[in-house]
Order: sequence, then structure tokens, then C-alpha cells
Amino acid sequence: MIVEPAPAKLNLALHVRARRDDGYHELETLFVFVRDGDSVRLTPAERDGFAIIGPFASGLSGEGDNLVTRTRDAFRGTFGAGDPLSIVLDKHLPVASGIGGGSADAAATLRGMAQLAGVSPDDPALMAIAADLGSDVPACLAGRTMIGRGRGEQLTPIKVPPLPVLLVNPGVAVSTAAVFAGWDRIDRGALPNGDALTIALAGRNDLEPPARALAPAIDTVLDMLGAAPGVRLVRMSGSGATCFALFDREEDCATAATTIRAAQPGWWCLETALT
Ligand code: C5P
Repeated sequence: MIVEPAPAKLNLALHVRARRDDGYHELETLFVFVRDGDSVRLTPAERDGFAIIGPFASGLSGEGDNLVTRTRDAFRGTFGAGDPLSIVLDKHLPVASGIGGGSADAAATLRGMAQLAGVSPDDPALMAIAADLGSDVPACLAGRTMIGRGRGEQLTPIKVPPLPVLLVNPGVAVSTAAVFAGWDRIDRGALPNGDALTIALAGRNDLEPPARALAPAIDTVLDMLGAAPGVRLVRMSGSGATCFALFDREEDCATAATTIRAAQPGWWCLETALT
């Protein structure tokens, strides 16, 4: 049995540069990962099985359309059938929320299947499968801080300090395609140069305005995070609706979490740290 962590990804900055003819967008983004997330358990079995457990299990269907089963099938398409597998997805991240839950699950499935099949985690075929599965899956397969270009699949490593971070989602699922479609097609410029923190602080998320138009609750999340004492940076991640706040001190992160949980008990709120 293998249990692979599927940590949440954040986009500390996300600059949309152009719309492409294939319908995707050229972007420049700073991907980071946090300590917490979903996990995927893979066990060789008599026959294939797939189940979803955990606090956000009900947001997903266990049928063939799940990204985990698609990943399993794509892996087999490249590397051969192997043993039947029982796969259990433990879903702790809200679905369609801009923190890469589905992409992280796909990447964890690829890592786990590679290990069971004796495929090197650095096998370039894994990255190719990842890029086919979704724009964020290659970054999640790498699983560490990266600058992403192109659709997000062209990756360059960079380092980030392990700062405390608070993630908050107001319980509104947002469609990534709808948010990208709402981008105003104005190129506001490249990622700034410098270390990861400089890039984050001087960067933007160009998907914030279209996401806020679709889900006005994001405004409230950003306002509440922005009012937290000791906060360093507040921004939406990916296509939303999850927003994050970076802190220098864990105590400030914990205080902000307590305040937001008391004011908005229905929101999802995770105190974690960059890795
Ligand atoms: O690649 P993925 O399937 O995760 O993307 C979901 C949707 O997000 C795409 O269908 C597209 O509408 C949008 N997208 C985009 N440009 C990107 C990444 C995603 O337009 N770079």
C-alpha cells in the first residue's frame, strides 16, 4: 500500500498575458505548495476500485469521470496495465476552488503508480501524461515552488521561505473556464524579477477581477484577510474562490484564523505553511 500526499497549490502571483488560438491562455505564475491537502491511497487488489472519503467527498462523483481514475487509465496507457488497484482519495480540499485539488490528486496518483510499477519519478513520460491531464498537474507533480509559463506546464524552480499562510474559501465553487473567459484581454505585464517573495509582493492575480464578478463573496474574503494584524500579502489563488494571506508570524496567522472562523463559521479556513 502507498499513501501519497496531494498538497494544495497556491498561485502567489498569476499574470495572464494572452489568449491563445487553442482557447488556453499564456500565463506566468508563481506556484507554491503548502503542508496540507488531500491524499491518495493505492493498494494492489483483486480488481480495480475507487472510493472517495473525507470532508469534501460529497463534492465529487466516484464515477469514471474523476481525474484520479482518468490519471490511472492514462498511466496504464503509457506504462501498461500492471496490477488491479484499489484507490482511495481522501478529500480535504474544497472542489473547484483555485488551489489545485484535482491536479494535486492526479499528480499523487501518478507518483504512487510510478512507485508501484518501478517507474522513476523523473521519467519524462510522467510529465507528458501530467500535461495532458491538466495545466496545473505538471507543477503538482514537481510538488515544489516553480515559476510556470505557457499554459503553466513550462516550469523553472525557485525557492520560497516557509511562511505561515491562511487559506479561506467562502464555499462558492467557481469554474476555471468561466473565469478565464471573463479576463478582459489586457496584458498588464510580466512577472517582476527577483526572489519568490519579491515576485509575490510585486505581482498580481489577473483572474481576480473576473472571479470577483462571478463570485462577489471573494470581495468579503479579501477584505477580512486584509484587515488581519501582521498580514504581509493577501490575494486570490488561481481562478478562485480561495484566497490566501501570508504572514511573518504564526501567532498572527492563528489569530486571523480564529477571527474569521468566529465571524464566518460556514467558510473553509486552513492555517498552514508554505513548503
Ligand atoms: O488545463 P485545465 O483542464 O486544468 O484547464 C481548465 C480550463 O481553464 C481550460 O479549459 C481553459 O478554459 C482554462 N485555462 C486557460 N488557460 C490556461 C489554463 C487553463 O484558459 N493556461
